[in-house]
Amino acid sequence: MADDYMWFEGLPFPVFGFSSEVMKEACSTFVIKDEDTVMVAYPKSGTNWLMEILCLIHSKGDTKWIQSVPIWDRSPCLETDVGYKCLNESEGPRLLMSHLPIHLFPKSLFTSKAKVLYIMRNPKDVLVSGYYFWSMTKLSKKIESLEQYFKWFIQGNVPYGSWFEHIRGWMSMRDRKNFLLLSYEELQKDPRSTIEKICQFLGKKLNPEELDSVLKNSSFHIMKQNKMSNFKILPETLISKHFSLTRKGICGDWKNHFTVAQAEAFHKVYQEKMADFPKDLFPWE
Ligand code: A3P
Repeated sequence: MADDYMWFEGLPFPVFGFSSEVMKEACSTFVIKDEDTVMVAYPKSGTNWLMEILCLIHSKGDTKWIQSVPIWDRSPCLETDVGYKCLNESEGPRLLMSHLPIHLFPKSLFTSKAKVLYIMRNPKDVLVSGYYFWSMTKLSKKIESLEQYFKWFIQGNVPYGSWFEHIRGWMSMRDRKNFLLLSYEELQKDPRSTIEKICQFLGKKLNPEELDSVLKNSSFHIMKQNKMSNFKILPETLISKHFSLTRKGICGDWKNHFTVAQAEAFHKVYQEKMADFPKDLFPWE
């Protein structure tokens, strides 16, 4: 575990797999092409769930790809050393993911017709999920307790910075035709309709059997068993023994973790930071 983050443009990033040299290039000169599909999320919002769905849609429900290739190679992360190299070397339409806040994203995105999918999640569940993820991996700054992480999260002193700034920034894209706003909560509530909505946005037509396979093979239970998707193939030097990306996979786990005082403090900050957004935009409100 590290004593500090990798800092870039005043924001904290994980120490493992990131470097300011690569990030500098990724954030400035990388060219997003019209035929690319770009998946964006603040970490712990259901990124990998959506990635699994996109991969399965791409292969029309065939599971060979998701069972044989690690998720980070199927949909490389723009800002990591490995992901950036992989994206630069790949030709043709790319499926790429990023956790970058909008102000650091390469500007080529904003003039391209690339399809962008943004998945959001109740920030209180994001906080709890992040606490476990960053505590059980050795990718980032050492965390002593949930209480400490709670404070850091509110301050934006966690990998990728403030959740509030991230969502506020990306929401500015929400009326664009090539932008699809999704939530972890709607995927939980009605995964079939949400997958259909994604297919429609991507212009992909799946028959009922193919759709059934996407639904089944992206379920929590199946993803938990897929070593190519649950991060279990990360080296032991980077993860603790009982770590799994697919931890609980539910909405509202914050209720099992927050004290009454923490829930109130969070509510207050949330009200201040998100006051200018319509309440019905966010399914957790
Ligand atoms: P929890 O830690 O609350 O369980 P990300 O991919 O952005 O890192 O998000 C990880 C969170 O998504 C974890 O939340 C994980 O369990 C959840 N998740 C991953 N795959 C899922 C699936 N197929 N269904 C529901 N939740 C899933």
